[in-house]
Amino acid sequence: MLHEGCNTVAVAGLGYVGLSLGVLLAQRHRVLAVDVLPERVDALNRKRSPIADQDISAFLNQRELDITATLDGDGAYAQADVVIIAAPTNYDPAQNYFDTSCVESVIEQVLRVNPEALMVIKSTIPVGYTAQVREKYGCSRILFSPEFLREGRALRDNLEPSRIIVGYPEAPAEMKEQAELFAAMLKEGAETPDVPVLLMHSTEAEAVKLFANTYLALRVGYFNELDTFAEIRGLDTRSIIEGVCLDPRIGSFYNNPSFGYGGYCLPKDSKQLLANYADVPNNLIHAIVDTNATRKEFVARRILDKAGWPEKARPVVGIYRLTMKSGSDNFRQSAIQGVMRRLQERDVELLIYEPTLTQDAFQGIRCCRELDAFLAACDVIVANRMNKELEPAKDKVYTRDLFSRD
Ligand SMILES: NC(=O)c1ccc[n+]([C@@H]2O[C@H](COP(=O)([O-])OP(=O)(O)OC[C@H]3O[C@@H](n4cnc5c(N)ncnc54)[C@H](O)[C@@H]3O)[C@@H](O)[C@H]2O)c1
Repeated sequence: MLHEGCNTVAVAGLGYVGLSLGVLLAQRHRVLAVDVLPERVDALNRKRSPIADQDISAFLNQRELDITATLDGDGAYAQADVVIIAAPTNYDPAQNYFDTSCVESVIEQVLRVNPEALMVIKSTIPVGYTAQVREKYGCSRILFSPEFLREGRALRDNLEPSRIIVGYPEAPAEMKEQAELFAAMLKEGAETPDVPVLLMHSTEAEAVKLFANTYLALRVGYFNELDTFAEIRGLDTRSIIEGVCLDPRIGSFYNNPSFGYGGYCLPKDSKQLLANYADVPNNLIHAIVDTNATRKEFVARRILDKAGWPEKARPVVGIYRLTMKSGSDNFRQSAIQGVMRRLQERDVELLIYEPTLTQDAFQGIRCCRELDAFLAACDVIVANRMNKELEPAKDKVYTRDLFSRD
């Protein structure tokens, strides 16, 4: 359990969430960072960040951090006052729910080697999950703290958090004190002193996370549907968005059209919230999930029109970058892949330009590593986000990136 002063913190999972929290807390606490992937553990012990994040790399090399990575979960958890669980919770389409098995395997491991330890789930989980696992394992020492970081800014978003939220059980009362101690640890690691701290019951904290991400998906979907309307009616999307967003209640931010919302979290979190709505009347939550497929189908149709298909047989459609955003270091659920799948169903030839890939093909699609050759070979080039290097072939480019951001 947590106490005032320096604690031993074990972190389970060295992805964006676990790594940034581990580094943040290692400024004042002893951190044992656990993963099942040897390459992540090795990298961290060599002071290299296993994920692309400038702040994490700088912290590892410039600060006095007490952090050791290990594959030995049993050994780390046995010494821990608190175990932070940052394992993946992928969406399982068969169950129509998050797959929480990685989180539960950590809980079971902790209960086996150190039943007195506090556990804090940082993974995103279904609404009601923490209460269920407390009941299932007969253990009240499990808190939930939603994580709001963005990939590419993972540590920065914990150094300058928009808010710190910790969810605790209704009983026993000492769990509220543990939640306060955990919130204080996150706050003392941050660089902004006035960060709002909210303590609430864990089910409400779980709802905060899913409703926040579903709102972001709604906002992306809204401006994308505005853009679909403008494209079909031959209107200037930029003028409409600028005019709409100058209303301060709407705001001129997070309004750049795209091929859909994507990344690891928004698609799965909005689907999970919809699953939690199973017996609750709604229209909007359903529509937020559905809008993404509608948008990608529309985008695919426009690309085919630009390529002259089907009049032109087998046009070459170039896919410029597989990442979701310009600065991203992974392809998880990127919207362009949904567009690619729809194009693959038609008789077109796809060609990928993705400089971070070393292989010759990705999911059966040819990759080209030479930018000039790529630009020359394609009839149309599809870019979720525009880049200066596409300028020489800009007449071929299909993008909806109007504001060069997000
Ligand atoms: N990526 C984000 O932007 C973000 C933001 C907020 C919340 N989240 C949530 O946080 C959770 C983790 O996300 P992430 O992006 O950091 O994931 P990630 O896939 O980048 O990292 C998860 C890590 O956990 C490791 N792992 C799996 N099983 C383990 C086990 N039993 N013991 C120890 N390590 C184990 C994996 O090897 C991997 O390195 C997810 O629930 C996600 O929804 C992610």
